[in-house]
Amino acid sequence: MIQAKIAEILDSNQFLQEFEVNGWVRSFRSNRFIALNDGSTINNLQCVIDFENFDQDELKRITVGAAVLVKGTLVESQGNQQRVEIEVKEFKILGDANPEEVKLTILSPKRHSLEKLREQAHLRVRTNTFGAIMRVRSKLSFAVHSYFQQNNFHYVNTPIITGSDAEGAGEMFRVSALDMENPPKKEDGSIDFSEDFFGKETNLTVSGQLEGEAYAMGLGQIYTFGPTFRAENSNTSRHLAEFWMIEPEVAFCDLDGNMDLAEDFIKYVLKYILENCQDDLEFLDKRFKTEEESKPKADRSEMGLMEKLHFVIDNNFKRVSYTEAIEILKNCKPNKKKKFNYIIEEWGADLQSEHERFLVEKHFKCPVILFDYPANIKAFYMRLNEDGKTVRAMDILFPGIGEIVGGSQREERLDVLQSKMKELDIDEKELWWYLDTRKFGTCVHSGFGLGFERLVQFVTGMGNIRDVIPFPRFPGNAEF
Ligand code: 4AD
Ligand code: MG
Repeated sequence: MIQAKIAEILDSNQFLQEFEVNGWVRSFRSNRFIALNDGSTINNLQCVIDFENFDQDELKRITVGAAVLVKGTLVESQGNQQRVEIEVKEFKILGDANPEEVKLTILSPKRHSLEKLREQAHLRVRTNTFGAIMRVRSKLSFAVHSYFQQNNFHYVNTPIITGSDAEGAGEMFRVSALDMENPPKKEDGSIDFSEDFFGKETNLTVSGQLEGEAYAMGLGQIYTFGPTFRAENSNTSRHLAEFWMIEPEVAFCDLDGNMDLAEDFIKYVLKYILENCQDDLEFLDKRFKTEEESKPKADRSEMGLMEKLHFVIDNNFKRVSYTEAIEILKNCKPNKKKKFNYIIEEWGADLQSEHERFLVEKHFKCPVILFDYPANIKAFYMRLNEDGKTVRAMDILFPGIGEIVGGSQREERLDVLQSKMKELDIDEKELWWYLDTRKFGTCVHSGFGLGFERLVQFVTGMGNIRDVIPFPRFPGNAEF
C-alpha cells in the first residue's frame, strides 16, 4: 500500500527500497511521470519512467484510468510536490482503459461538477475528493464502534424489515412479496396483506429505536448502527431516502445523562478523525475554502473545516429549552437584510433549519442542545414532563447542518404511554411487545439517533448529503 510504505520511509529515512504496487493511473505526462493511486491515500505515488528502456507499444497502454502493476526503487524526489517517488524498473498493464471512452467519463482529468460526478457514482470514488470523503467515512465508522465498545455498550442489530412505524410519521417504504399486478383483495377492494409473505403489512425500518429499547432493558446499554429508510419527499441537501443511523439506548439514564453521552461521543469521534485523517482533512479543508470563496459573501461559512471541528470539540454544548429558544427567535432579525423565510410567531411551532443554524452560528456561537419540546410536534414515545405539554426531547444543532441528533428520555409509565398512543390512534395490538417492556421491570431510560451522513457531511464540509454516501438514494434516483 502506498500510504503505509511512504509513511514507513519518511519515518525511518531509509530510501532505496524496492517496492511493488498495484494502482490506477491518475495522470501520465511527458511520457515519463505516472501519478499512481491505489486508494490508500490522497497522495499519488509519482512513478518515473525512463521511456527509452521500455517497449513503446506497452508504454502507449499507460492511460488515465488503467490498472497497472509497478515495480521499482523508492528514491527521494527531486520535485517539490512529493518527498518520495519510484524509479520504475518494470511495469505491467493489468487492465486497459480506452482513452476515447475515458474522455466521456468523469475519469478524464479535468474539473467536473458534483452533479456530473453523481451521475457516475460508480466512478467518482476514483477522484481525489471522493477518495478522501470515503476514507474519512470509513474511519468515522470505526470511531463510532470504538467509542461504544470502549464504554461497554453492546452492538445490537435491529431488523431492517419491520411491522411497526417507530416514528409514527408514516414515511415508510412498503416491503411486499405480493404480485402487484394481481394482488389478493379484501371484500372492500383493498389489498389483503394477510396473504403477503409475512402475513401482514411490512416496511423498511425508519429507526431501530423501539427494538433497541427492548434490548437496553436487558443488556443495559446498547447501540445500533445500521441503514434506515424514509420515504419523505424531501429534495434537500440534508435528506436521503436511505441513510445510516447510530442509535444508543441506555437503561437507568435520564435526559441529562443522554445529553452528556451525546456530547462526549461526538467529541470523541471528531478528535479521532483529527488525529487519524490528517492528509484527507487537509485536502478537504482546502477544497472547502475554495468552494466557499466562490459563493457570495453573505452565504460564506465564517469558519474553515478545521475551525468547525475545533468549534465542536473545544466548546461546551449550550443546553437551551425550546421555550427559551422560541423567545430568542421571535425577537430577532438574523441579519440586516434578510429575515427568516419562515417567521416563528408563537410557541408550539417547529423550528426550521434556518432557525437552528441561526441559534448555533449567530446567537450562541457554539453547538446547541435544544430540549423540552412541545409534545405535539414530537414522537409518541417521549417522556411527558410534569407541565403536561412538553416532552423530554433533545435535538443537537450544528453549524452548517442544523439538526444532527434527535433523541429523548422515553415514556416509561405504561398508562401514560397507552393514553398517548390512544390519542394518536396508534394501535396497541401493533406494539404489544413494546408495551411489554413497560410492564416487566420498566425503568427510566433514554437514547438518541445520530444521522451518520450528516456527521460525515460536517466533517468533510460537503454541501450536499448525496456526496457523502457511495450510492445515494433520493427521490427519482436508484440508478446504481
Ligand atoms: O430525529 P429522528 O427522526 O429521530 C429518530 O429516528 C429517533 N428514533 C432516534 C432515537 O432517539 N433513537 O432522526 C435522528 C437523526 C436526525 O437528527 C438526523 O441526523 C438523521 O437522523 N436523519 C436523517 N439523515 C439523513 N436523511 C434523512 N432523511 C434523515 N432523517 C433523519
Ligand atoms: Mg428529528
